[in-house]
Amino acid sequence: VLPKGVKAPVEGTSSGWAAKNNEPYINYDLRREIPFAIDRKLYDEGIRSTVSIPLYQDRVLGVFNLDSIEPMRYSPDDLQLLVPISKHISIALENTFLFEEVSREKMEWEKTFDAITDMVWIEGRDRLVLRANKALLDNAGLSVSELRGMHCSNLLARVGIVSVDCLCEDLPVQESQSFREIRETSGSVYNFWIYPLKNEKGKVYASVHYLKDVTNQKRIEQQLIRNDKLASLGILVSGIAHEINNPLGIIAGYSEALLDRAEDEDLKAVKGFEDFPEYLETIHKEIFRCKEILGSLLGFASPQSGKTRILDINELIMEVMLLVKHKAKSLKHNLDLDLNRDLPKVNADPGSLRQLFMNIIINAMYYTPEGGKIRILTGIDNVIQNTASGEKQMLKISISDTGSGIAEDIIERIFDPFYTTKPTGAGAGLGLSICQRIAREHGGMIEVESGQGVGTTFSIRLPVAEEQ
Ligand SMILES: Nc1ncnc2c1ncn2[C@@H]1O[C@H](COP(=O)(O)OP(=O)(O)OP(=O)(O)O)[C@@H](O)[C@H]1O
Ligand SMILES: [Mg+2]
Repeated sequence: VLPKGVKAPVEGTSSGWAAKNNEPYINYDLRREIPFAIDRKLYDEGIRSTVSIPLYQDRVLGVFNLDSIEPMRYSPDDLQLLVPISKHISIALENTFLFEEVSREKMEWEKTFDAITDMVWIEGRDRLVLRANKALLDNAGLSVSELRGMHCSNLLARVGIVSVDCLCEDLPVQESQSFREIRETSGSVYNFWIYPLKNEKGKVYASVHYLKDVTNQKRIEQQLIRNDKLASLGILVSGIAHEINNPLGIIAGYSEALLDRAEDEDLKAVKGFEDFPEYLETIHKEIFRCKEILGSLLGFASPQSGKTRILDINELIMEVMLLVKHKAKSLKHNLDLDLNRDLPKVNADPGSLRQLFMNIIINAMYYTPEGGKIRILTGIDNVIQNTASGEKQMLKISISDTGSGIAEDIIERIFDPFYTTKPTGAGAGLGLSICQRIAREHGGMIEVESGQGVGTTFSIRLPVAEEQ
């Protein structure tokens, strides 16, 4: 008996001849004649006669060989029996091969199904789950057997969709694909497709369901749209500000001249003129207020032109403190400084940074009820930032307050220009958008963390200067 796996060559063997010619071959007596050279090996092992019958089913599958130590053991009569047996073997072999191929393909499809990171499942017409991919099993935290036979509506709650009972309710098993978008109150957004599975007659017997979490994608899209809007808004604002700035300058100049003239004793003596100095003073004051507002609008809309220098953030914060101390005192706020003495320097425009810290500290004081605590902390950030110009060590300046906090649903908008929760007329809503612009212009960033009723912390990160 030959061991499994031994390969016999086609050329030079009688079984090879049978396979090639698709015809049985009988070696009557190897002692007398060995027509195929390699058959000598059989002879050396004591074989004296052989019969080879091809195994054929649309193609050659192999050869059915019988060997005997007796010469003249096989005759053409034996073929009457052996050929039909070979046919049976051929059919069985072909089936095995086909089965192996099908299982291999099935496995490949299953792997493909599981490789999809979105949730995919198949439902029968009764809306019960027949199969599900790995992403769905993982998201639902269920095993294959737990999931099979589950109703669509029970499944959804498991993956966090609660706003709809059933995805396919108003999408009956249709002839063609259908789509819908699901928006959860939690802010999650899903895209959902159904594709019908049809039998040979074109009748829908099941449907493939494809559920994709697009929350992040949507958020990025929204951000892009918003950035776009802000950019156009900026252009518009700076245009208007410039236009108003010039006539306002002229009015300011004339009001100043008039104010000087109103000091004239002769004029003051004229009845009916006595209110003039006071009115002119008010006009003058109000014009300067307008100019201030315009200045901040222009500052917001056009890039900073301030000169940068190497500076110490702690010193800058001390300067800002001098400006806000008085206000803090009147509000009975407690200002607490925790400045790291070994702080590396930054390369920055001091005017802009002063404005940045002022804005955030003024906010902290404004949005914190009397007697609150405002803490300013400086230090080296323990995260190295990967920026376009290589790895950067950052400083971190945190400004925390014990104020009202910021509601979760508005926190994303507080850096938008003109976003304010102050009553109409009380604030422009430009403070934080200017701060963010300044931080970005310095290669830094601002983050906010807030708990309602607990307080808010703004963290400003700025890159350390290369030369110290
Ligand atoms: N420390 C804080 N605590 C609570 N809410 C804050 C704090 N800082 C900012 N906010 C919120 O962010 C919004 C935007 O702030 P921003 O400084 O940009 O504008 P504003 O303070 O409303 O107006 P402006 O600064 O132009 O006078 C505020 O209206 C407020 O709702
Ligand atoms: Mg503000």
